[in-house]
This record gives sequence, C-alpha cells and structure tokens, in this order.
Amino acid sequence: MTEYVKMIIEGKEYEFPVVIGTEGERGIDITTLRQKTGYITLDPGFGNTGSCESKITFMDGEKGILRYRGIPVEDLAEHSTFKETAFLLINGVLPTRAQLNRFSVLLNDHSLVHEDMQIFYQNFPRASHPMGILSSMVNALRSFYPVLQMIEEEINITVTRLLSKIRTMAAMSYKISRGHKVVYPRPDLSYCGNFLNMMFDTPVRPYEIDEDVVNALSVLWILHADHEQNCSTSAVRVVGSGRVNLYASISAGIAALWGPLHGGANQKVIEMLKMIHQGGENVKKIIERAKDKNDPFRLMGFGHRVYKTYDPRAKIMKKMCHRVLNKFKIEDPLLDIAMELEEAAVNDDYFLERNLYPNVDFYSGIVLRAMGIPTNMFTVMFAIGRLPGWIAQWKESVDDPDWRIARPRQIYQGQQVSRYIPLDERG
Ligand code: SDX
Repeated sequence: MTEYVKMIIEGKEYEFPVVIGTEGERGIDITTLRQKTGYITLDPGFGNTGSCESKITFMDGEKGILRYRGIPVEDLAEHSTFKETAFLLINGVLPTRAQLNRFSVLLNDHSLVHEDMQIFYQNFPRASHPMGILSSMVNALRSFYPVLQMIEEEINITVTRLLSKIRTMAAMSYKISRGHKVVYPRPDLSYCGNFLNMMFDTPVRPYEIDEDVVNALSVLWILHADHEQNCSTSAVRVVGSGRVNLYASISAGIAALWGPLHGGANQKVIEMLKMIHQGGENVKKIIERAKDKNDPFRLMGFGHRVYKTYDPRAKIMKKMCHRVLNKFKIEDPLLDIAMELEEAAVNDDYFLERNLYPNVDFYSGIVLRAMGIPTNMFTVMFAIGRLPGWIAQWKESVDDPDWRIARPRQIYQGQQVSRYIPLDERG
C-alpha cells in the first residue's frame, strides 16, 4: 500500500508517493514535481536528496551503523578478507569456496599491466601526485582493453581486471617515482600480500610478508570498501550515467576522492599531526583555529555529512593503530597527538554541538605509516579500498532498468535578457 505526502503549492494540493527503505528510511518521490507544479527542489550538496535506491550499503548516521549487503562492517573486519568483501559488495552474496577460488585465479591472471604502460609512468614528473597518476592510468586502461560489451561475461572480466590491476598500477607509481625497479605480482601471494610485496620488495632486500600486516591492510581496505552515495561514488554514478566505460567512470571517482574534504583528508591529517609534532602548532591552537570562522582551517579527519556520532570505521581503525604499533614496537608520537586532539575536540562544545567526531581518515594514516606507506600514497590506499564499492555502485546503476543520464536542474540567478554590444561601443 503506497503512502503519499501532500504539498500545497500556490493554494493547490498535490500528492507525491513515499518510498520506504528496508531499514525504514523514507523519501518523497518527486520525479513528477516539475511536470505537476512547475517547481524544482534546491539542495546544494545534496544533503537532503537521494540520488537512487540501492541494495549495497546501509548507513545510519545517528547510530553509527555501517553494513555491506546487510553484514555489519565490524563482522566483516573481524571475519572476512578484503577479496571476499569485494566479491560480496559486487555480487551481493558471500562467495562459496569454489567461487572464491575462481575469483582468486582471475585476480591472479589479470594482475599484470601492459608493458607499454610503464612508458607512461616514466614520463610523469617524479614529483607527480600518485592520485593524478592513478586516475590517468585507470582511464588509459580503456586504450589497452577497448572492448567492453555490456554483457555479464565481459563486465565480470573487466571488473576483475580493474580490481587486480589497480594494485599493480599503484605500486608501479611508487617504485618508478623512486627510480626503483618495478616488482611484478606473484601467483603465490594473497591480494593484499601481493600489493605490499610490489611496493616494498627490492633486489637487495627481499620484502618479508608478515601476516599481521597483511591482515591489517585487509581490514583497512574492508573499512574503506563502500559508503553509499559519497562524493566519489556519486561521481562514478554520474559519469557512468552518460554510458561511458567503467574505466572512465572509476577514473572520475579517483579524481573526486583526491579532494582534501574527501579521501584526501587522510594525507592532510598526518600533515596536521606532523605540524603539531614539529612545534609549528599545538593541540590547543589547532582546536581554536578549527573553531574560528575566519580561519579556513578545519580539523582534518573530523566531521561527516552522514555520521553525527563516532564513525564506526574510526573506532576499528583506532584499535588497529595500537595493535599494529605494538606489533612493530613502534612509538609513533603522532598517535599520541591524534588521541590528544580527539580528547580535546570531543569535550569541546563547538564540536559536540555540531556532532563532529573522528571519521575514517583520522586514524588511518597512523596505520599506513606503520606499514611504511608514504604519506602521498595514503589516498591511493583509500582508492584501492573503495574500488569494489565504486564498481558495485556502477554495476547497480547499469543494471537498473530505469537508468537515466544524471542531469540536475538549477535556479538561474544571472543577468536577465540583454542585447549584444558591439566591440566599438564597449568603451
Ligand atoms: C570522507 O561522505 C562520505 O561518506 C565520505 C567518506 C567515505 O567513506 O566516502 O566517509 C570519506 O570523505 C570522510 C570525510 C573526510 N574529510 C575530512 O575529514 C575533512 C574535514 N571535515 C569537514 O571538512 C567536514 O566535516 C566534511 C566535509 C566531512 C562534511 O562537511 P559538511 O557535511 O558539509 O558539514 P558542514 O561543512 O556543513 O559543517 C557543519 C558545521 C559547520 O559549522 P557551522 O557553519 O554550523 O558553524 O560543522 C563545522 C562547519 O564549519 N565543521 C567543522 C568541521 N567539519 C564541519 N569545523 C571544524 N573542523 C571540521 N572538520
């Protein structure tokens, strides 16, 4: 039985259907609003606007809930692997053993990158940001794999190809930026173990795979794997809605994630903590600056459009910091500073009144540092983790029979009609 809401516009009453989600979220279906009333809605930043119905990820911002295909992220972090979680997000179910083995074989078979792509890497300036390189190289994959018929088999191969190659491409940018020999993927290593080996193995110092580190990376990527209609996922859906290929849609998602208000925050958090550690700022000053409306500075890693409580991912990440640092017997002063900052902020009315708490980026950098990941690669790490979510969301839109090109409206506030003034008359 469909529910309706009534709207009275200029004295006339209109009814619009209510869409109710499986977790009780309610949305007003305004697809006929303009046609019936001549009005559009206005919602800069889309804080009140749903762009789609989705079965992939559920978030409850007030309760701090995050579930992938109904499974709490805490359970996946505890019991699953990133590879298995990627399969779950993309296919909607946890894989059987046979499916997981098949997936592993395909990921292995597609892990190499065309040798000609190395020439591209050689020609980026050494100081290029790896996010810019990654976005370019993912887009370039289309040139090497031009055929993508929208048929299940083709899409599955393309998806697996991208999931596997993104690790190789990310590690290549790091190795080549340091003038090091590129390390090839190995058939005997796991998804996460292969990435770490491609990053850190060298001819003179073979990288020793430590299962605790591999597990920490797997958990970190599980925590980043999807997050409903965030900025970069929306970019993937919007770009994909023009019927462009998957590589170009994902390349757009990488570009959107790069922003310091989004995935780029994890790099900014560490830079902020380093600034404090080096004496450039102190915790009290940083908190004051974050609260000062005249200062564009924001407390990086804090706040969230949806979570108005502690980000459930940040809770797990914070525990992981202690576990990984203890494992390596690392005393990272930045962790102490981060916890001091958190303590100050969560007891400050400015942050409490605005429901500003640590988000996924606040502690992730500490774990990445402990693994030896360079700071400028932090957002690349976020992108690799988010790739299964982007793919799942892209596939869901492709499979939607009502899939339409994304084309928002606007309210025009510019110059009303005026005549063309010839150059000689313009003074
Ligand atoms: C990610 O959407 C997702 O799901 C994203 C993500 C994912 O997994 O995809 O979770 C990943 O992007 C996490 C967010 C990483 N970004 C940062 O940590 C950057 C710092 N955070 C802020 O820039 C901000 O909190 C955002 C961008 C995350 C959210 O911005 P909103 O929802 O537009 O919030 P807002 O700007 O409307 O803030 C509301 C108030 C404002 O103050 P008032 O005007 O009410 O006085 O809170 C203030 C803001 O000034 N505020 C902050 C703050 N965040 C919000 N003040 C100081 N420091 C902050 N970090």
